[in-house]
Amino acid sequence: MTESQIRNLQQTADFIKKSYPHNPSVGIVLGSGIGNLSKEIDIEFQLDYASIPEFPVSTVEGHSGHLIFGKLEGKRIVAMAGRFHYYEGYEVDQVVFPVRLMKFLGVKTLFLSNAAGGLNPSFKVGDLMIITDHISLFTVNPLIGPNAEIFGPRFPDMSEPYKKKLIQKAKHIAETKNIQVREGVYAGVTGPSFESRAEYRLLHMAGADAVGMSTVQETIAAVHLGMDVFALSIITDMGIREEENIITHEEVLTAARQAEPRLTAIFKGLVASI
Ligand code: HPA
Repeated sequence: MTESQIRNLQQTADFIKKSYPHNPSVGIVLGSGIGNLSKEIDIEFQLDYASIPEFPVSTVEGHSGHLIFGKLEGKRIVAMAGRFHYYEGYEVDQVVFPVRLMKFLGVKTLFLSNAAGGLNPSFKVGDLMIITDHISLFTVNPLIGPNAEIFGPRFPDMSEPYKKKLIQKAKHIAETKNIQVREGVYAGVTGPSFESRAEYRLLHMAGADAVGMSTVQETIAAVHLGMDVFALSIITDMGIREEENIITHEEVLTAARQAEPRLTAIFKGLVASI
């Protein structure tokens, strides 16, 4: 983070605090096809991304996205309805700007969600996968550049990017709600093309159970700032290519929408437990 980035984050946080003088302790990022959780929030205040100073400007027409402030399970949260992907052409600093902003607003625990392609042959479309670890080597690291030592270390440890205690709680919540969950390693890639057969094979051989175009940069930025992260993938397609296995964005969104109520139940349970 450069000094000017820190200044921008502070100014944006001050701008928000003028209208919403609370400190949400939980941040939630809603991934592709996963917007309904926002209907469960008792909304106190919300902002269009376009109206937030220094916030990246959305590239998707008619979908500017909202930053939502309110209560979920009685806890103050801030939720991003719509995230920024590296494949849209943003600099990696812009992709993680909202996560850093959340830290400046007081967030201690970050929940991330995404749609992902399944690589583990025992998975099926519609499964939920708790991310236990990630492979981020195929994307740009958001910490490249000057480091502000007061915010986080130059070489942050990544031995537990996804907090084990949150994973344990999530598994317990899923069990009590009779929701089946998988666990696995998420490989972050840039996209936007889906992977070729050879790429899916490579990622699976490298130890990944699922692949997607988001999340890992946000996780690294959050861990750097000392936040606890929990992330859940919806397996929206089976990446491992058999004959005639063509993957479309529509199929990804449809599968995400169908699995979303289960994801929402787990997030709500976790927020309640913190
Ligand atoms: N690959 C990459 N990203 C994805 C996929 C996939 O198969 N499905 C949903 N997001």
